[in-house]
Amino acid sequence: MKVEFYRHALDETDIANVVKVLRSVFLTTGPVTAEFERRFSDYSGMPHVVALNSCTSALQLALMGLGVGPGDEVITSAMTFIASATCIQHAGATPVLADVDPKTACLDPAAVEAAITPRTKAIIPVHLYGAMCDMRALRELADRHGLFIIEDCAHCIEGERDGVRPGQLSEAACYSFYATKNLACGEGGAMATRSEELARQVKLLSLHGMSKNAAGRYHGSYQHWDMLTLGWKCNLDDIHSALIVDQLARLDGLWARRREIYERYEKGLAQAAGVGRPQVVGKSAHHLYTLWVDPARRDHILHALQERGVGVAVNYRAIHLLSYFKETFGFKRGDFPRAEAIGDSTISVPFYPMLSDAEVDHVVSQVLAVTGS
Ligand SMILES: Cc1ncc(COP(=O)(O)O)c(C=O)c1O
Repeated sequence: MKVEFYRHALDETDIANVVKVLRSVFLTTGPVTAEFERRFSDYSGMPHVVALNSCTSALQLALMGLGVGPGDEVITSAMTFIASATCIQHAGATPVLADVDPKTACLDPAAVEAAITPRTKAIIPVHLYGAMCDMRALRELADRHGLFIIEDCAHCIEGERDGVRPGQLSEAACYSFYATKNLACGEGGAMATRSEELARQVKLLSLHGMSKNAAGRYHGSYQHWDMLTLGWKCNLDDIHSALIVDQLARLDGLWARRREIYERYEKGLAQAAGVGRPQVVGKSAHHLYTLWVDPARRDHILHALQERGVGVAVNYRAIHLLSYFKETFGFKRGDFPRAEAIGDSTISVPFYPMLSDAEVDHVVSQVLAVTGS
């Protein structure tokens, strides 16, 4: 049996929605994107949503929209995907990394506090694997130091912790609709915020700083547009929006299936020798299912699973040990030991709603076999 690392959950409605767009006048940002923004606002409970071409853009533009830039420092996690840190550089500011809670792999508020300097302007918590960071502690910290919080919700649309959902205690929540995410359209993202002004700024920055988008220029009698600021090109088009506009209504059902799979994995691997898993606090969005194995055997186990037909990935190696970050910022092994320990031991296994119980059981049996349990 071969179990792919990921298979999408697009259905015939999503495909028909794309065809409808392809047969319409409007291919770029237009009515379907506007409808998606409305529905995502309803789902997330966030009053303002700007659909964008990626979470990376959302994070960068949220920072820029809040006025974070050259001379400023922004703190994020050493255990994340590189975009959580590179977005800070794209905004012109300096990324500062902090270590994580060894049980959850989420940003540790005490480590964030220790990294604050007079130049710190913002914190980017990453809700890793789908489980939220301790947003109450981070908000308290941010208020005490006068900092913005921009949440990296690439893994976490559906999560909740301590009665808090993404965006409720921050200036902005940034989402990804990348090919393998819980809501997926290939490439896409969004920024959600409680601030009308930030939403307006991000929208402006996402389309060259133009006062009108294509739909605004097309409909009604022609009116000249102006360029108000130097912007970027990060808008989401209607072709991509068509893939998620109805998929959103299935999000909770897809989550429920991942929850069943999570429980099946937990039960199946409960007796596995030397196989740890992150602790989940609150409701996880259940984006990735990650095993923590002996670092000395990680690559061997990874390859052995692959040879036995189980798709695998590593989410993630600690980012400060990647060449670019080492060379640019002088990071070295030992700087963030908890992120390093997780990054050296982690293996992600298939985790998506289209998995059958038989496939989950196959993954479990292969993990038990290769770890000698
Ligand atoms: C934690 C995290 N942040 C940010 C991103 C960037 O998302 P996007 O590919 O939509 O820019 C990803 C994508 O994998 C991610 O996993």
